[in-house]
Amino acid sequence: MASYRSLILGCGPRAQQHAEVYAEIENMSLVAACDLDEDRLKTFATTWGIEHEFTDYETALEAVEPDIVHVVTQPGNRVWEVECAAKAGVKATILEKPMAIMPSEIVDLQRIRDLTGMKIIVNCQRRYFPQFRDGTIRRVMDEEIGDVYLIRASTRGNLVSMGPHTMDLLLMLMDDVQPEAVWAMAYGIDESGYKAYHRAPEHTFAEYWFPGGVRVLFDCDTEALGTPGEDSFWMHLHFDILGTHGRIYVTQNRGWWWQAEGMASREHGESSWDNQQHDGQRDFTAAVAEWLDGGEPHLNRFETARAGFDATMGALQSAYEGRRIDLPHSFTDEQWRELRERLIARDARVQ
Ligand SMILES: NC(=O)c1ccc[n+]([C@@H]2O[C@H](COP(=O)([O-])OP(=O)(O)OC[C@H]3O[C@@H](n4cnc5c(N)ncnc54)[C@H](O)[C@@H]3O)[C@@H](O)[C@H]2O)c1
Repeated sequence: MASYRSLILGCGPRAQQHAEVYAEIENMSLVAACDLDEDRLKTFATTWGIEHEFTDYETALEAVEPDIVHVVTQPGNRVWEVECAAKAGVKATILEKPMAIMPSEIVDLQRIRDLTGMKIIVNCQRRYFPQFRDGTIRRVMDEEIGDVYLIRASTRGNLVSMGPHTMDLLLMLMDDVQPEAVWAMAYGIDESGYKAYHRAPEHTFAEYWFPGGVRVLFDCDTEALGTPGEDSFWMHLHFDILGTHGRIYVTQNRGWWWQAEGMASREHGESSWDNQQHDGQRDFTAAVAEWLDGGEPHLNRFETARAGFDATMGALQSAYEGRRIDLPHSFTDEQWRELRERLIARDARVQ
């Protein structure tokens, strides 16, 4: 078993969860941290006992020659961040979601990955929560509720903030089969606070056609139906899975259950952000080293992450064109910019 040295770029709140799992992973060590903000950097490095501190990313890569880089910045510079890592000979880069904002960025990321062979993994860590990773919910879908014909996937984050997690889990539940068509509508845009980086329509509603006749109603909307009882927008991540003989109800933090015809009561399973996020992030991180060691491909590898990104871009293209479109999409950066201008102009007219 090889030993891997890691560098973390970005020492904000999310980076804490990347760092805290290192104590439990035998063959990985977090040796360096980098942040433009010196106070953040110092506090972070002291808290996690990190040996090397840098304020310049390229200097850090050159000095440390890490095997693994965690990119835990706001999205906006993902291509440059990944390209620097690839040039420095990094073996695997863990990118925080969203992996990209614009359609051209995903093409550039793939080009870098294909040219250099560097592994790119996107931090949609919920795939490593047991009810998803072990295929428990998938088994109920396959064996207990008849033919699945409708899934409602819903979150109160926008398409770029919570959309990546919601689409990622949806695709995992669908056995990573990709949708064939989408019809979507979108309105509003709010670019205040963190949404300046997580730029997407405030309200997006999409209907996806999947192979086998499964329809998905995908709601990334600050006013989405969400999960009863939740307060924080990002805690609303929810699936209703309807089959011809039963139903599965999945929340992010309030458990999941299923019931089929003839069952006197529901069968419940655990689904808890509070209890599962730490172990999920640990297993997600350890799986990067296992993959580098020749083990199973990572569940959040570039291909699966790109499929999710492309599905959400398809929704934007459909909203832009005002009609149902076949997938894969052909949405361009220029069209995205035009859509954004339209959303802003419409907001201004309504106010
Ligand atoms: N996977 C999840 O469950 C989850 C949860 C929360 C946030 N996130 C994602 O994590 C990312 C980071 O979120 P955050 O709240 O920690 O962000 P943040 O803005 O608070 O922190 C990012 C840090 O990166 C630093 N930085 C940016 N560019 C840099 C550069 N070129 N060189 C050095 N330092 C640089 C900034 O100075 C900042 O301190 C976002 O993309 C967010 O969507 C994911």
